Amino acid sequence: MAQDNIESTLHEDRHFPPSTDFLKTASLSADKLNTLYEQAKNDNQVFWADQARSEMDWQTPFTTTLDSSNAPFYRWFPDGKLNVSYNCLDRQLKDNADKTAIIFEGDQGDVQYISYRQLHARVCIFANTLKAQGITKGDRVIIYMPMIAEAVIAMQACARIGAIHSVVFGGFSASSLKDRIEDTQAKLVITADGGHRGGRIIELKSTTDSALESGCDSVEAVIVFKRTGHDISMQSGRDVWWSDAEQNQSSDCEPVWVEATHPLFLLYTSGSTGKPKGIQHSTGGYLLNAITTMRWVFDIQDSDVFWCTADVGWITGHTYVAYGPLATGATIVIFEGVPTYPDAGRFWDMCERHAVTIFYTAPTAIRALIKQGDDIPNSYDLSKLRLLGTVGEPINPEAWMWYHNVIGKQRCPIVDTWWQTETGAHMIAPIPAVTITKPGSCTRALPGIDAAVVNEQGEEITTANQGGYLVMRQPWPSMIQTVWGDDQRYKDTYWPMFDGKYYLAGDSARRDEEGFFWIMGRIDDVLNVSGHRLGTMEIESALVANPLVAEAAVVGKPHEIKGEAVFAYVVLKGERPAGGIDDELTQQLRAWVGDQIGAIAKPDDIRYADNLPKTRSGKIMRRLLRTIAKGEEITQDTSTLENESILPQLQGKV
Ligand code: WT7
Repeated sequence: MAQDNIESTLHEDRHFPPSTDFLKTASLSADKLNTLYEQAKNDNQVFWADQARSEMDWQTPFTTTLDSSNAPFYRWFPDGKLNVSYNCLDRQLKDNADKTAIIFEGDQGDVQYISYRQLHARVCIFANTLKAQGITKGDRVIIYMPMIAEAVIAMQACARIGAIHSVVFGGFSASSLKDRIEDTQAKLVITADGGHRGGRIIELKSTTDSALESGCDSVEAVIVFKRTGHDISMQSGRDVWWSDAEQNQSSDCEPVWVEATHPLFLLYTSGSTGKPKGIQHSTGGYLLNAITTMRWVFDIQDSDVFWCTADVGWITGHTYVAYGPLATGATIVIFEGVPTYPDAGRFWDMCERHAVTIFYTAPTAIRALIKQGDDIPNSYDLSKLRLLGTVGEPINPEAWMWYHNVIGKQRCPIVDTWWQTETGAHMIAPIPAVTITKPGSCTRALPGIDAAVVNEQGEEITTANQGGYLVMRQPWPSMIQTVWGDDQRYKDTYWPMFDGKYYLAGDSARRDEEGFFWIMGRIDDVLNVSGHRLGTMEIESALVANPLVAEAAVVGKPHEIKGEAVFAYVVLKGERPAGGIDDELTQQLRAWVGDQIGAIAKPDDIRYADNLPKTRSGKIMRRLLRTIAKGEEITQDTSTLENESILPQLQGKV
């Protein structure tokens, strides 16, 4: 594990206490928060057991809080039974049945309101549909859908019958979809004819067809939701329209009570080596932290309209669209489209029209909208907003200040939430009515979360602002259970150091004088492009799979909007193009990577060289490649290079 010198260069002294406006209605005060911290400190397990009893309905109460006998395969609430869909929907039927659960807005501006009663009925009907397709507890179901209410209905229906869903982001290619189908051995794929995005149609069914063309033998059926109505082909005996499959299904569906440790879903994410990992999440522990963070970090209240802009293809869309908000009886907004269509006012227009009170998005979206100027947000009524959030990457202080001034009008606290696909829910984040925030810091670990910054030996770094490894020293309920089908990879990736006692997040971080956490970046070969993780190795493998390519190395290059952009160095099997330039080939390789992984992974730059720079032991000198990608001067020792003449080639000078 290479760790470049971790040095802190950022200095930020501004700090922002919660506004008096926010304090008027906030529910978690400093006193109550202190009590939570105290309780967690006294006995972490008793603390989580209390939370689990008060926040969730159990069909069979648990008697054991945490089974650590097979660490790091921790099992929370192992003898308890519950159902996530019951906790999200049935619980609302008594007092809240007519409350709006989902406000859906399509790309084209079509709006639908779905009450809790209606959502419950639609989930039950679809759960019965799944049963009629032969899906039972433990079966895997792939969901490859646009960002529409039916994606959430499909997830909730799986949860209702104990089926394990794996949502694949609609922007992923046929080949990525196929990999996930094969790894999960899914019996069923739920998709749509297509989706609308920025005025265009996203093909989902035809991509599914390509994925299923060869292999994927586990798939018995494909359910297709009609969204766009454009022409697609249906394979008889395999494909069935959602509306046909639902015919005559009852709106009563007794939930299947599952063990708290039963997997609720798998979600694939990139690592530094090999193919994407199927992150396995539990039922009870996962839902618990989805709920506690909705309360503590988002201060969710009955009157809120909560909008998390993430797609259900990512973890944020699981925890803060499909599960957490519904389990707390909130009204959520689901949006099919993009922030810039029909124009760059779309988010703010929707905040005004739907009276959004809590808005949660990614720094990359904020940066893109800043470029459009202040006049656009200033022309909308954003007065209903009371809380803002960000996630996905460190937010640069300039973007934070813009969010604070132009969107929040200095009235809305900003919660910068640090977490990961693997952590399931927020881990380090402000408590909006209490924390005095600083632009760029995710502040403090939440109650019950034991986050620390340690050195190679696992000793806590106590010197302020000195960087180290971000670790969790105690298990927490919504933690990853394992990597699907690969327990060894789970151990190797997340518990490789410190005698396997600490969870290694893969980020470097520092703590300031006050103990606030500042995330500094990844310690492995993982890029963060627009708030999404991409393994450099994955993109390299995709490039090398092209018949023209002999070798490839991929690094990140800072990018104004995306955070990081993909920069590829390629060695061809044939001649290096004259002057290192071949626009046509570059377009071809970009499209190739798009087909292999998805558009998000396409390299922004490709540079051709006769060779890659390697150390004596044959390792690619990535740090050197990063320096070159940034266009910085080379200060590293390059004397070990076999062929120093490639340097100008890598720099694009010849
Ligand atoms: C990685 C996790 C969690 C949902 C979105 C991404 C980075 C995430 C922050 C933040 C600084 C952040 C980390 C982390 N990250 N949130 N608030 N400040 N960095 O999920 O794809 O699993 O990626 O995103 O590097 O390890 P993910």
